[in-house]
Amino acid sequence: MAYLLGIDVGTSGTKALVISEEGVPLGSATADYPLSTPQPGWAEQDPADWWRATAVAIRGACERAGIAPEAISGIGLSGQMHGSVFLDDAHQVIRPAILWCDQRTAAQCERITERVGRDHLVRITCNQVLTGFTAPKIVWLQENEPEAYARVRKVLLPKDYIRFRLTGEFATEVSDASGTSLFDVPRRCWSGEILDALGIPESWMPRVYESPEISGRIHATAAAETGLKEGTPVVGGGGDQAAGAVGSGIVSPGAVSISLGTSGVVFAYADEPATDPELRTHTFCHAVPGKWHVMGVMLSAAGSLRWYRDHLAQHEVEVATRLEVDPYELICAEAARAPLGSEGLLFLPYLTGERTPYPDPHARGVFFGLSLRHDRRHMARAVIEGVSFGLRDSFEILKAMGVPIGQVRVSGGGARSAIWREVLAATLNTPLFQATTEEGAAFGAALLAGVGLGLYPSVPEACARTIAAREVTPAPPAVEVAAYNAYHRIYRQLYAQLKDLFDETARIVQEEQA
Ligand code: XUL
Repeated sequence: MAYLLGIDVGTSGTKALVISEEGVPLGSATADYPLSTPQPGWAEQDPADWWRATAVAIRGACERAGIAPEAISGIGLSGQMHGSVFLDDAHQVIRPAILWCDQRTAAQCERITERVGRDHLVRITCNQVLTGFTAPKIVWLQENEPEAYARVRKVLLPKDYIRFRLTGEFATEVSDASGTSLFDVPRRCWSGEILDALGIPESWMPRVYESPEISGRIHATAAAETGLKEGTPVVGGGGDQAAGAVGSGIVSPGAVSISLGTSGVVFAYADEPATDPELRTHTFCHAVPGKWHVMGVMLSAAGSLRWYRDHLAQHEVEVATRLEVDPYELICAEAARAPLGSEGLLFLPYLTGERTPYPDPHARGVFFGLSLRHDRRHMARAVIEGVSFGLRDSFEILKAMGVPIGQVRVSGGGARSAIWREVLAATLNTPLFQATTEEGAAFGAALLAGVGLGLYPSVPEACARTIAAREVTPAPPAVEVAAYNAYHRIYRQLYAQLKDLFDETARIVQEEQA
């Protein structure tokens, strides 16, 4: 019996998961760490925290699985994408890592686009440069912390720093490298041309593998710290979205997933590196060798309902605490009692700005259409409907790009709510399915390890053998689809009408805070 270990270096904590070679989850553990925001819009973490958490999570997961860590046969890594870990010539971390959700680099994004040339940059990287991506962070360091920049010898992504601590290797894989703006996505290699244009030595970048390839082996120090056996292979793994897609079986044409976590992601497999002409979606290499994926990312999906719970649903939280149930159950039950369309109340879910379909850091949340008739039932439903409309925006871009859409699989905390799934199904006009295993990116990473060990002949075959899906919400009634179409048209116009006002408000707020 082979045991596989998947490690997901997330934003709030690191999760380790042990599975059997049949794909059965045997035990998992998560160890948390803080996120610091030294200035508004900044987001940083200490890579040493990730390493400590990884060692704790590995031991915890193995204990729950009832095995010794040395019984693990292969390891796959996954993690938050885009973050930058800067190492010096002694391989020490120079400063805290700058994360995917950090917004400090708007000016650097513009300069990179100018220096490389927009069309050229898009041809090579298949994406525009966004504030969260890695290249603008390197340029930011050069411009703002030149002493630190002068010491840089290696730049690693979060999970690849953990790989370095586990194996001593400087390596990454194609899916995570795709989110750096330094990677030739169609050719699946670093872009010498972009690195040159930005003055970044190629020697700083880790060696690139395909996701199931073995990238290194556990070395003696890591074995001592984690209990894993020296020599155990570590495969490339994947960025959290690509590895999560492997874990939900999104590995063949037509497969689409929608994850309703803090952020919301509509993810589709692609045989070719198709790009949206308006660059509203991301096109990255997939963790399936030689394949790609396209995704739309909205920043506040279930995060919008968490905001609603924390700031507007005190009453439900109190009742839930008394009844010892999850407050979301009560909030969703209330939402289900409001009529479709929330009697004309609409919610724009741009609480932290937006990426898809509007890469706009100034966009903000809006309740539109409030009247005396509206109460918290309507407001809760409007939040659920507004987030579903946002996901529909991404879904429609993928359709317009000609990406095949077959079975749509939902995952994440929001997908546990029947009313949310119902609203989403009617908004997208499709039935919804759920994978039987809900272990996310760590599960996908463990399967990639299984492919690297030769336990499965390919990534799609690994998924076919271990993942099943069942329908959780049937095809929606036509009247509901038509009603949501009408509300969605208004929702789309609201952003268009408010865009300039969002910019102006941001300017005034910035001036006030200066
Ligand atoms: C993907 C993205 C997030 C982060 C954090 O582009 O920004 O998925 O990886 O989870």
